[in-house]
Amino acid sequence: CGIVGYIGYREAYPIVLKGLKRLEYRGYDSAGIALFNDEDKELKISKTKGKVADLQARLENEIDTSGTLGLGHTRWATHGVPNDVNSHPHVSNSGNLVIIHNGIIENYETLKKELTSRGYTFTSDTDTEVLVNLIEDVIKKEKVKLGKAVQIALNQTVGAYAIAVFDKNKPNEIVVARLGSPLAIGVGKEEYFIASDASPFIEFTNNAIYLEDGEMAVVRREKGVKVRKIKDDSLVDPYIQELQLNLDQIEKNGFDHFMLKEIYEQPSAITDTYRGRLLVDDGIIRMAGVDDNLERFLNAKRIVIVACGTSWHAGLVAEYIFEDLARIPVEVEYASEFRYRNPIINSDDVVIAISQSGETADTMAAIKLAKEKGAFVFGVCNVVGSSISRETNAGAYTHAGPEIGVASTKAFTTQITVLTLIALKLAKAKGSISNTDFHMHLRELETIPGKIEIALNSNEHIKKIAFKYKDVRNCLYLGRGFNFPVALEGALKLKEISYIHAEGYPAAEMKHGPIALIDEEMPVVVIATRKGHYEKVVSNIQEIKSRQGKIIGIVTEGDTSVRDLADFVIEVPDTIEALTPLVTTIPLQLLSYHIAVMLGKNVDQPRNLAKSVTVE
Ligand code: G6P
Repeated sequence: CGIVGYIGYREAYPIVLKGLKRLEYRGYDSAGIALFNDEDKELKISKTKGKVADLQARLENEIDTSGTLGLGHTRWATHGVPNDVNSHPHVSNSGNLVIIHNGIIENYETLKKELTSRGYTFTSDTDTEVLVNLIEDVIKKEKVKLGKAVQIALNQTVGAYAIAVFDKNKPNEIVVARLGSPLAIGVGKEEYFIASDASPFIEFTNNAIYLEDGEMAVVRREKGVKVRKIKDDSLVDPYIQELQLNLDQIEKNGFDHFMLKEIYEQPSAITDTYRGRLLVDDGIIRMAGVDDNLERFLNAKRIVIVACGTSWHAGLVAEYIFEDLARIPVEVEYASEFRYRNPIINSDDVVIAISQSGETADTMAAIKLAKEKGAFVFGVCNVVGSSISRETNAGAYTHAGPEIGVASTKAFTTQITVLTLIALKLAKAKGSISNTDFHMHLRELETIPGKIEIALNSNEHIKKIAFKYKDVRNCLYLGRGFNFPVALEGALKLKEISYIHAEGYPAAEMKHGPIALIDEEMPVVVIATRKGHYEKVVSNIQEIKSRQGKIIGIVTEGDTSVRDLADFVIEVPDTIEALTPLVTTIPLQLLSYHIAVMLGKNVDQPRNLAKSVTVE
């Protein structure tokens, strides 16, 4: 979910509305806004299931939008189906307190029973409505102010949250708190902004306070921000950070969708990833997080990678790269499985956690578990200052810039870039790569952005292929070696945004099952670049062909063998095997993008998904 708030001297509505649109990547099952106008002392709330645009259409007919205090919420449903009643903001029984909440209160049923027995009633199924009434109950029972009541109430909850609450009888303050879900406070002059990330307020201020887990703040119009620890009430001196974000980075810049913009940004994103790290002429890779902990890496008996979704696919590519170049055994695990299966982790293991958002709840929990077991945990994150980047012992940012499309694209290729740099660095330090090979890899890595540009030139050709196959019900993706994870990622992209069932498989594994699905209706996307088991893959293609399957080959420039067999081929420039995923991924991203657009799907906000999954 995304939360946003404003308290100051400007009209809150346009700020909160625009903020919600920017945060919609975090969830879009429902949306709502609460506004308070100091002059007529009126609290106005409008909420609806659906998107922020649905809210806007409804709200402007429903309520008066004036007021200099406002809260907004865009929801990814956990408790309660996404309907109008379950949407946020929620109001306490007295009608005084208003809350927005991102996260889960796990013990809400117990709390709800207790409150019900004392006469509280609930209109929604949400845990959030329980929390706001709990706060109200504390105010009544303990005769304390809002800030104190929030603190006492939160100490009775189990779960994760970022919340913002205000009392319509004290409209000069908003109380916020965080545990497990991000919360930033934009600091202006006699005005303050609250949001899940800084994007809603960057045109107003460059100064932000990121609350730490377990901290809360009382934000007052005139008196500013006071931060405390929720547990023991101790005061915290807030660190005001200067933001590096600019407006261009979070707008579409002429592209129809963020996803397309982000696909096209990959050459520059990858350049940003290796800038300052890859010193080709000197033959050096400089990465402070690795340099400072080189011994830990070199002494590692194995590397365990934990991640979810697309980041997990980047982890699989890394497994091939680390084992091939640095000769360190690697295991890749879904963070959600790792955390619940009593894994064997030792103090001489290095755990690498990969996460674009740096907020994924399962990945976070896996990191905490690995740390408890004494492992050294290294983070690969995109969002600077995110929870995971702070929880890990060391790390490297991908520097891909904000990724807003829910289906991950540039995060994937920049994660692979960072992991390749680490693998090469370790290979060099261990002596598992020859000097010549090491230099060749560095030089080749530097050519990748240019090669991606060339791969992007196939866009129009890919559009034609998309048109041809847009109505299929199933699709198979095959790859071998380094390109097996790319097949998984290609299938994930298609299913995420076009809702076509797709599966990725190691090409040779096809004959142990998926081959039964192949008939003239079934398109099979095969990654068949010249480096990497080419002949074997060509045989696999022949097997598909002889069963009338339709073949779309991703091939190296100038290829003829696959061209003869395939219905379509998409060429990508040649590169060394370990780096092929960086180029073969591009046509797969474009193919799924165009199919989804042609089917009229919402590419940037596919149904039921969210970009940042802060619940388990
Ligand atoms: C969600 C997103 C995916 C992403 C995954 C992991 O499911 O929709 O695109 O790959 O979370 O997210 P992370 O931020 O940890 O990389």
